[in-house]
Amino acid sequence: MNTYTTVAALTAAIEQAKKEHKTIGLVPTMGALHEGHLSLVNRARKENDIVVVSVFVNPIQFNNQEDLAKYPRTVDADLEKLTAARADIAFVPSVEEMYPEKVETVYHFGPLEEVMEGPRRPGHFSGVAVVVRRLFDLTQPDRAYFGEKDFQQIAIIRNLLEQIKYPIELVPCPIVRADDGLALSSRNMRLSPEARAIAPNIYATLQQAVEMSEYEDVESVQLWVMDTLSSFHEVNGLDEKLSFDPEYFEIVNDITLQPIDNWDDAEGIVGCIAVWLDGVRLIDVIRFRP
Ligand code: PAF
Repeated sequence: MNTYTTVAALTAAIEQAKKEHKTIGLVPTMGALHEGHLSLVNRARKENDIVVVSVFVNPIQFNNQEDLAKYPRTVDADLEKLTAARADIAFVPSVEEMYPEKVETVYHFGPLEEVMEGPRRPGHFSGVAVVVRRLFDLTQPDRAYFGEKDFQQIAIIRNLLEQIKYPIELVPCPIVRADDGLALSSRNMRLSPEARAIAPNIYATLQQAVEMSEYEDVESVQLWVMDTLSSFHEVNGLDEKLSFDPEYFEIVNDITLQPIDNWDDAEGIVGCIAVWLDGVRLIDVIRFRP
């Protein structure tokens, strides 16, 4: 695997690959790699001649400076994992290399950014779009791979591709879970052992919600999930420190991301949740329909 830290070195490698008519798969990441990221690399390896993985903690997508400061940075371990996963190129730029000039571009995504993460993280999706477009420009991929845990992000990138009209295939990849059901996330490593032990109850609750959706209406299922998680520590006699604080649980059309009222309002329906636990913000997604 070749590791590049400069745009010039990356560009030279991409130009060479293009000359040889090689297909390119891009896996954008912010590092702290886990099996979820590696599943994207594996998929990209199967479908492309060359796999490029970017490792860059993108400051302009963080609206909370404390979150940016706390974001785990494990570059050496990441590069070892990428070598083992047989990625071809790791691109690990500095902030100055990525953004030599002040970023002025702002992207808008209409109703897609007015729900769930959008209002809670102002500027986040525009920051994601800026970095993803820059990575698209630098790597000129045939395909780009994103994990479905960030479900709204995938809808945003789909919309970005429509806006900029790049012929890149967006490949959404399934969530990878720990054996106990917790969706893998770089943030999980910040949970205390006690919090990590109860965190799988997020997914367990979502699974029960899917069962309930066979006989309960949308609003009841939504409220039940919020209540079940909010009261979890009380019901189980746990310390307040181990309480789940759900920020939202939305049941939405899987393309428009707009909340639905009835189970037959859309063909594809997913539930998206953001929950605080032990000072860590966790997100997860479950499919209700089809
Ligand atoms: O999903 C992420 O890790 C980031 O939002 C991404 C797509 C790498 C852009 O920084």
